[in-house]
Amino acid sequence: MDLYSGYRFTKITHHDVYPKIHWKNPELSVKGQNVLISGGGSGIGLATAKFYAKAGAKTVVITGRRSAPLEEAKDDIRKDSPGTDVVTIPTDVSSKASVDALWTTVRAKVGNIHVLVNNAGRSGNSTRLGDGNEIEWWATQETNLLGTYLMTEKYISSLKMGGATVKGTVIIIASQMGFVEHPGSSAYSISKLAVAKLAQHIDVEYPTIRAFATHPGIIPTELAKSLGDAAKDTVELGAGLNLYLASPRADFLRGRYVTANWDIEELEAHQSEILAQNMLRVGILADIGPEGHEW
Ligand SMILES: NC(=O)c1ccc[n+]([C@@H]2O[C@H](COP(=O)([O-])OP(=O)(O)OC[C@H]3O[C@@H](n4cnc5c(N)ncnc54)[C@H](OP(=O)(O)O)[C@@H]3O)[C@@H](O)[C@H]2O)c1
Repeated sequence: MDLYSGYRFTKITHHDVYPKIHWKNPELSVKGQNVLISGGGSGIGLATAKFYAKAGAKTVVITGRRSAPLEEAKDDIRKDSPGTDVVTIPTDVSSKASVDALWTTVRAKVGNIHVLVNNAGRSGNSTRLGDGNEIEWWATQETNLLGTYLMTEKYISSLKMGGATVKGTVIIIASQMGFVEHPGSSAYSISKLAVAKLAQHIDVEYPTIRAFATHPGIIPTELAKSLGDAAKDTVELGAGLNLYLASPRADFLRGRYVTANWDIEELEAHQSEILAQNMLRVGILADIGPEGHEW
């Protein structure tokens, strides 16, 4: 099985951005909105920052641990989108002190954030359980899970400080790797499964916050370079999905997991089935409930 054929949900599979999720689609305008993208200095995060800027965002805040890529990314985004303010704030998402400082600066410099994209991540070294690699295994949880948690925690508390109505959007970049088992993949896989579940918890705890978990495609970025030719998608594909999710059209996907390779027209056409059958959520493949499993 290749990295695509086993993970189809829609009949159509995309590898690049298409009109429905392109920043040129006027339905996806984010005019006047502020977006914060962790890991926004490279790869899928940078492509997402560019898409939001081109779709009219007022401010794009990008973070990452290293300043130099953030400054280069800022110039890159501004080239095509001079009307968007680009704010760079070096941050380590796995450090509570660093995340606290980020949100203090955001509140002072930018104000309300309409969309948070939790994109920062690490793949870590692939080692099997029993190989004595505890430190590396845990470091992956610290960036992918703790980092996503800390950023989301501060975002929601900043929304609460803003007034009576807690309204916002949280997009969590998970991965289809969260739903499969390969030898050596447990650290990354478990971290990504956990953040997909986090989107479901946000959805239940805050009905006025739109929360989504995504797989951005398989893209030959720095993080995924070991995949070589198996990575057939563009960063713009993931960026397009991240932009689409900010629009009210995506509301039927709230609290769910969605893959950029899946066709959005087809998902929209089947949204009543998705909702009625509670699809695209993390769960157990059995009938668990008052009547028990239907054997
Ligand atoms: N590429 C794929 O095929 C693929 C597939 C599924 C999911 N994803 C997910 O997509 C997201 C983006 O990855 P990418 O493929 O675009 O790779 P990438 O270009 O290597 O981007 C990763 C970004 O995360 C930042 N980062 C890493 N650790 C951080 C930390 N502790 N604090 C703050 N920022 C941190 C990095 O910046 P600094 O190094 O400067 O901190 C970098 O900008 C990740 O969550 C990844 O797991 C990717």
